[in-house]
Amino acid sequence: MSHGKASAPAKVILFGEHFVVYGSPAILAAINKRISVDARAIIHDENKIVIRSDIGVAGEYNNNSGEFNALKGGSKAKLVLDPLYSAIRQVLLMRNKKKNNNNVGIEVSISSRVPPGIGLGSSAASCVATVAAVDSLFQENPSRQKVCELAMESERLIHKRTSGADCYVSTFGGLMQYYGKSKSFKNIETKGQSLCLVVANTGVNHSTSDLVAGVKKFRDRNRILFKTLLKYASEICLQACTAIESGKCDKIGELMNENQIILQQLGISHDKVRDIIDICSKAGAIGAKITGAGGGGAVIALAASKQESTKIASHIKAAGYQSFEVEIDYNGLYV
Ligand code: PMV
Repeated sequence: MSHGKASAPAKVILFGEHFVVYGSPAILAAINKRISVDARAIIHDENKIVIRSDIGVAGEYNNNSGEFNALKGGSKAKLVLDPLYSAIRQVLLMRNKKKNNNNVGIEVSISSRVPPGIGLGSSAASCVATVAAVDSLFQENPSRQKVCELAMESERLIHKRTSGADCYVSTFGGLMQYYGKSKSFKNIETKGQSLCLVVANTGVNHSTSDLVAGVKKFRDRNRILFKTLLKYASEICLQACTAIESGKCDKIGELMNENQIILQQLGISHDKVRDIIDICSKAGAIGAKITGAGGGGAVIALAASKQESTKIASHIKAAGYQSFEVEIDYNGLYV
């Protein structure tokens, strides 16, 4: 096959970010904002890997020497594209080893509906979709598990301590609880009741690694306080799981607000996060908090109904922030 296509959803973290790095559970959901990847084989230039995107970066790699040439986005391009290059290489290595295929060059085009760098898992979704699109060129139908593992490996290039939860939820979709300690996942059933969620973008991009490092510093300086917060975060997450399973929306919102208070104590909030949370709560949100690493990034709010979430999103937009309603994506990866 000379063309392959795949798409994978972004994600939100509803509960437990940062504490998950220290073994506490977290709750994540795939959302209906996707990244699509088109892949094609370059038959006559087996060493060439070209990556194009609609997010302001593009570049080409020599697959022999690893040499990189930015086509768009200057020095930022390499940083963004390296995990995708790694994802493509891993698929080629796996397939070439297995079938003794002749090497081929690869060109991929990424098309994204996910704002990058604000904690919605755009890099995990693009790694998942890239692995699947490139692998589909070999007509082998890889398992989702294998796609997920290769994507996680590539993600580790940018975020060494990543839990891998982003890639997992992007591959399999749905709502899940991730246990940091055992590195295992459990699907959360919602009994058909949907969560009415709104995402707001502070417009302040973050570096997950820097924020995770900042939290480590906080922990090293405040060991007793951190231990207490960790215990508190785990308890919130466990109660949230029960509240989601039994469709208790008010309880979920209340727990989101409590989770936000402890994230603030970690020092990863931001003036714009506080401003948006304030707008959400005045517009009638049941709960609102940072989603992801914070330091700006994105805020997630829970509404009592679809009508309410539309109202909350319009209030956020009126204050000058990007905002959109999201639904949980139960499909995960499409190939
Ligand atoms: O990359 P983000 O913004 O979705 O943040 C990841 C969540 C953290 O808990 C901060 C880190 C992790 O690997 O779980």
